[in-house]
Amino acid sequence: MNLQSVFQRRFGGEPEFSLRSPGRVNLIGEHVDYNDGFVLPIAISMQTDLCVRARQDGRVELYSPVFDSQMSFSLDHLEKQGAWIDYAQAVAQVLEQEGTELRGFEGVVSSDVPLASGLSSSASFEVAVALAFLRLANVEKTPAEIALLCQKAENTFIGVQCGIMDQMAVAACAKDHALLLDCRDLNVRQVPFVLQEHALVVVDSAAPRELASSAYNERRAQCEQGLSLLRKWYPDAKSLRDISPDQLAMRTNELPETIAKRAAHVVGEIARTLEAVSALEAGDMTKFGRKMNESHASLRDLYEVTSLELDFLTDWARKQPGVLGSRMTGAGFGGCTVTLIERDKAEDFIKRLKHDYQVATDRHARGWVCEAEAGAEVL
Ligand code: GLA
Repeated sequence: MNLQSVFQRRFGGEPEFSLRSPGRVNLIGEHVDYNDGFVLPIAISMQTDLCVRARQDGRVELYSPVFDSQMSFSLDHLEKQGAWIDYAQAVAQVLEQEGTELRGFEGVVSSDVPLASGLSSSASFEVAVALAFLRLANVEKTPAEIALLCQKAENTFIGVQCGIMDQMAVAACAKDHALLLDCRDLNVRQVPFVLQEHALVVVDSAAPRELASSAYNERRAQCEQGLSLLRKWYPDAKSLRDISPDQLAMRTNELPETIAKRAAHVVGEIARTLEAVSALEAGDMTKFGRKMNESHASLRDLYEVTSLELDFLTDWARKQPGVLGSRMTGAGFGGCTVTLIERDKAEDFIKRLKHDYQVATDRHARGWVCEAEAGAEVL
């Protein structure tokens, strides 16, 4: 879609600038960002595109050709509307609180990031809006600063208690690299990620993420409970990150069963993510795939955030020729899987998967071969 010509028809004249802001897929390190752990996402080619022109009246007018919906708000009066524009208002509110002089704008926004599928469509939109406001205000911020303000927008105005991974992935990923993010201090290491003989396939299960946000908040609370119990023996621990798998094993019998399982996932997944990065840096894709499988098993058995569909897709994937590993990605309870496979088998894999999944579940999965793309940028 040519957003410039949509802009011309809608608002007349030309936009001042355009920007792009990708979705992301997390390769490993799931449900650890809010425990100060390590995550390893890449940005993907599905993205939010936005073109923008300043207005003088302090209003934001946004048109979405995908929804055929134009929505607006005044910067002086931010109030939830229960619609997609709320993400833009959320970002405006946090920027205002931080003292940025905001200018209104009109813009056309379009996104091909599947909604509510665990590929961070909302973080992608938030970061796009933040970049637009900052550019209009002539203010420079680092990717980490942008990610933090967008996370705050989501936590406060939207009311979703997400961690920092999605916004950081959208803002800070680099082309041909996976982002090893230390969620404790937001240090990043760009890990080269150019697959030659292998490919990443992302599959959307098309299953609704029922109860996702309440179950997500419950998992967070269970982690906090686990930490406060474990501090009896490990008083210096500031988060589950500070507890090693061996330390946890010594105290497992003294924790309520569910809490012990949640903590076991977190400490195991943090260690596993670092092992997966070492495997990747050593070019050992077989081991990387094995870590993906272990991650899924832990999310299924210990953290209990998979679903019938996600388990079906990953079980099915592991039986196919050329597959090295497969796991759910994102918050879970529905959404997407990510599979590492020999490149020449990927297209056929997607075709057969769609068929077998439909027979098994009556749902229509979609699949994409994804490469590591760049983070959000003004073009
Ligand atoms: C969602 C949240 C992230 C992260 C993942 C699980 O995507 O927004 O912060 O917690 O779930 O890894």
